[in-house]
Amino acid sequence: MVTSVVREAPVGVFDSGIGGLTVVSEMLSQLPLEGIIYVGDTARVPYGPKSPDTVRRYAREIAFYLAGQHVKAIVIACNTATAHALDMLRAELSVPVVGVVQPGARAAAAATISGRIGVIGTTGTVRSGAYERAIRSLRADATVVSLACPLFVPLVEEGWTDHAAARLIATEYLRPLLDVGIDTLVMGCTHYPLLKPLLADTLGPSVRLIDSAQETAAEVGRVLRGANLDATSAENPVRRFLATDDPDQMLRLGQRFLGRTIERVETLALE
Ligand code: DGL
Repeated sequence: MVTSVVREAPVGVFDSGIGGLTVVSEMLSQLPLEGIIYVGDTARVPYGPKSPDTVRRYAREIAFYLAGQHVKAIVIACNTATAHALDMLRAELSVPVVGVVQPGARAAAAATISGRIGVIGTTGTVRSGAYERAIRSLRADATVVSLACPLFVPLVEEGWTDHAAARLIATEYLRPLLDVGIDTLVMGCTHYPLLKPLLADTLGPSVRLIDSAQETAAEVGRVLRGANLDATSAENPVRRFLATDDPDQMLRLGQRFLGRTIERVETLALE
């Protein structure tokens, strides 16, 4: 039997940095009663180019920190960390662990008509093949073309989401996907939802864009309800934001990802 103490406990969310705030933003709109403790590993970002073992070590450290804060579930808001560490964390933790890959893959498999699906993400996510596996397990006949778009992350962090340079880079990156004739694109990186208008312009109206952040928040809701862990009281849900480096960056740039101001960021010392 699930006690109300557990039910009202916060959900732990983590990412390599501030990009995972796009998932928090969706959770705040879709699941407003849920408390949230967010950890951004700003000291060690980016995870995208790092080896799977290193990303797993970082992910384990943060997930165990969150488990120590008595969260009732953990959301890996980072695509790269999900690709490398989801299975490991599910095996090691006693609370439900939700990643961003499966929800995005499910939405893509449901949205495509032609079965030709593009996936864009970091080098680590693309190399892992996690999205291909997840999509093909749902739709075996799908053609999945995955592309690493590493320059998109710094462009978004610079706020250049509608800059001429971003348009040029998007055109170059996305050309192979247009050549294949995809009808669905998974934005498989925390930062890419901020590029949605630009990606939509570049790909044209026939390509449906899948936002992993939106899909993940919906999945978190389903998982919590399914385990009778969804919060029922609206009294001051926890909102804590922690950064492993100087809090200043999350305070300054967080709003761009979260869509609202972050008033306080705590410092979390790991290692
Ligand atoms: N959070 C990462 C992801 O979604 C992008 C930034 C990074 O490389 O750490 O894959």
